Amino acid sequence: MVIDELKKNMIPRHVAIIMDGNGRWAAMHGSNRIFGHQQGVDAVRSVVEGAGELGIEHLTLYAFSTENWDRPKDEVDALMALLVNAIVQETDNLNDKNVRMIAIGNLASLPNDVQSQLEEAVQRTSKNTGLNLILALSYSGRWEIVEAVRQIVRKSQNSEITENQITECLFSDHLSTAGIPDPELLIRTSGEYRISNFLLWQIAYSEFYFTPILWPDFRKENLFEAITDFQCRERRFGKTSEQIRS
Ligand code: FPP
Repeated sequence: MVIDELKKNMIPRHVAIIMDGNGRWAAMHGSNRIFGHQQGVDAVRSVVEGAGELGIEHLTLYAFSTENWDRPKDEVDALMALLVNAIVQETDNLNDKNVRMIAIGNLASLPNDVQSQLEEAVQRTSKNTGLNLILALSYSGRWEIVEAVRQIVRKSQNSEITENQITECLFSDHLSTAGIPDPELLIRTSGEYRISNFLLWQIAYSEFYFTPILWPDFRKENLFEAITDFQCRERRFGKTSEQIRS
């Protein structure tokens, strides 16, 4: 699959990815799960590069879910160390590629060193004008929705908003993705067909693309394949086919 075969006027503005299969990839290669996560960083680098080449505006990667805290402590610790290393090592590369990085999720729950390295990388890439790379860390869709409800209730109690002002638009503005368009395309690797608490509100009308490829083997060419598939879909948003075509 080559980039030139894609329709340039039908590139999704926002692609979200559930990076899955690191553990199985490691088992298949006779190694431990941590090695699978390490190899996953190469896939992240390739996909970020490919997204930038395509002119995708926003790429959200599900790097660590709220539920991932329940994994064995050594795996959680290794993932956190891996994240810090990857963030530190990749920041120059992100700057070279004009990529801005932000993070969403319950960031206060991350270890202090992860928080400070993240803040530094976010600050150091903040002036970039290309791809917006959104890392979902200690994130879950339900957590985010509850947080939004809390903020709205607080504003209502302080008489900052009235009941009638609570709309879908206002609700979206209280999510961690405020100001970012909903993903047109959601990709999940590793042959699993689940959403796993990712961007629950934002994916209401996303197209889903599932691939059996395990995350450490995923490369930008696979992203281009997913987008080719996306470009063949008819997005009806509840309307009829005839309405869309006319
Ligand atoms: C899911 O595979 C993957 C994760 C929980 C971690 C994803 C993290 C990375 C790819 C590390 C690098 C990330 C960045 C943003 C630098 P799994 O462990 O659930 O695999 P399995 O289902 O085969 O067990």
